Amino acid sequence: MHYFTYHLNELYCEEVPVKEIVNKFGTPIYIYSARTIRRHFSVFSASFKEVEHLVCYSVKANSNLAVLALLGKEGAGADVVSVGELVRALKAGIPASKIVYSGVGKRPDEIELALKAGILMFNVESLEELECLGEIAKSVGIKAPFALRVNPNVDPKTHPYISTGLKKNKFGIPEEEVIDAYLKAKKNPYLLPIGLDAHIGSQITDVSPFVSALRRLKAIWNELTRLGFELRYLDLGGGLGIPYADEEPPPPEEYARAIIEEVKPLDCTLILEPGRVIVGNAGILVTRVLYRKTNGDKKFVIVDAGMNDLIRPALYQAYHKIQPVKLTTSEEEVVDVVGPVCESGDFFARDRKLPRLERGDLLAIMSAGAYGFVMSSNYNSRCRAAEVLVDGETFYLVRKRETIDDLISLEIIPDYLK
Ligand code: LLP
Repeated sequence: MHYFTYHLNELYCEEVPVKEIVNKFGTPIYIYSARTIRRHFSVFSASFKEVEHLVCYSVKANSNLAVLALLGKEGAGADVVSVGELVRALKAGIPASKIVYSGVGKRPDEIELALKAGILMFNVESLEELECLGEIAKSVGIKAPFALRVNPNVDPKTHPYISTGLKKNKFGIPEEEVIDAYLKAKKNPYLLPIGLDAHIGSQITDVSPFVSALRRLKAIWNELTRLGFELRYLDLGGGLGIPYADEEPPPPEEYARAIIEEVKPLDCTLILEPGRVIVGNAGILVTRVLYRKTNGDKKFVIVDAGMNDLIRPALYQAYHKIQPVKLTTSEEEVVDVVGPVCESGDFFARDRKLPRLERGDLLAIMSAGAYGFVMSSNYNSRCRAAEVLVDGETFYLVRKRETIDDLISLEIIPDYLK
C-alpha cells in the first residue's frame, strides 16, 4: 500500500505531481511519502496492541534525518548498528531509552558512546563482544543492559545475502552457547541481562520462519527464567517482506497474530525492528531517460540513475517495478533499463515490457524507500541523488543533491605531487 497514484495519467506522490518536484530539484531523485510511512508505522504498531511492545524502526533501511524525525514523532524507537546511526536517531529526537544497538562488529569506542548515551539495550552478537561490553561498562562505571542475539539456525527462505539466522551466517550466538554466556555474564555486576534477541533475515514472505525462531527463543527464555534471570525484553528483530512484484507477504496483522499467540504466555515487552515494511513502498527513485539504443536484438533505455544510486538489482537481482511518470502511449516494447555506470551489472530491469519510452521521459523506480539511498555510493564519481519528503500538498528537500565539490572535499593532494 502506498500513496503514489496517477491522476489524469500523471504520477503523483500524495497531492504533489512528481514532475513538479523534478522541475525544482532535478533527477535522479528519491521521493518519500510521509503519509505512507505514517500509515505503515501505525498499522504495524497497532497490530501488536494486545501485548506490551516497542517498535524500534531499523534505521539502516532509510536513515534520512527527516524520515527518522517523522517516525520518532509517531512514537518509534530505533534499531541501530553503528554510532553513525545512533547519532542520527538521537539527533532526530528518538530518545536513547527507545534505542537498541545490534551488529557483529561494534567498536569499543562505539560501545562507550552508546553506554554514555543511555540506550535501552545492546544486542550482543558474540562472547568476545560481551566480554568487551563488560570491561567498558566497568571502566566507565555505567551498567550495560544487554540481550544476547541468538542464532536460531532457522531458514528464512529469502535471498542468501539477506538471510542472517542460519549457522553459516556470521550473526548471533549459537543456541547451545547462549545459556552459558548469560551465566558467565552474571559474574560481572556491570552486565545487566534484560533481554533476548534474534533476527533471522530480511524480505521474508512467510510467517513460519518467524514462529520457528520465536519458539527457539521461548525455550531459552523459559530456561533462563528457571535459572533466576529476570528478563524483560524479547526482541524478534525485523524482516517482514513487502510486495515488489507478485510476492504476497503476510500483512502485519497476520504476522502479529502469529507472534502474539506465541509470546502471550511470557511476561515480557516485545521488541520489533521493522525496516523495509515501514519505508520500502513509501519511496521511489525518479530518473530521466537519456538515450535509447539497440545492440543486435537488445533494446536499451539508458537513464540518468545508476547502480550507485540503487544497487539492489545489481546486488540481489532484485525486481523493482518501473513506471513512467506520465502515461502517454499504449505502445509497449521489451527493453533493458540501464544506468550510466561502467559495469554490465548496472541495470534496473532486464527484458522488461514497458510503455515505449523516449529521450527526456521520466521514470519512477518503485519500492525504493528501503535500502535505496542508504546503500548508494559515489562510484564513477557520481554525486549522490537528492531526497525529498512529501507530506500532503507540500514537499520538502530533506537532502541536497551532492556537488562535485562535496565529492572531492575530503581529498588531499600531497604537496610533493603538486
Ligand atoms: N534488525 C536487524 C538486526 C537487521 O540486521 C535488519 C536488517 C533489520 C532489523 C531490518 O530488517 P527489515 O525489516 O528491513 O527486513 N540490503 C538488503 C537488506 C539487508 C537487511 C539487513 N538487516 C536489501 O536491500 O534487501
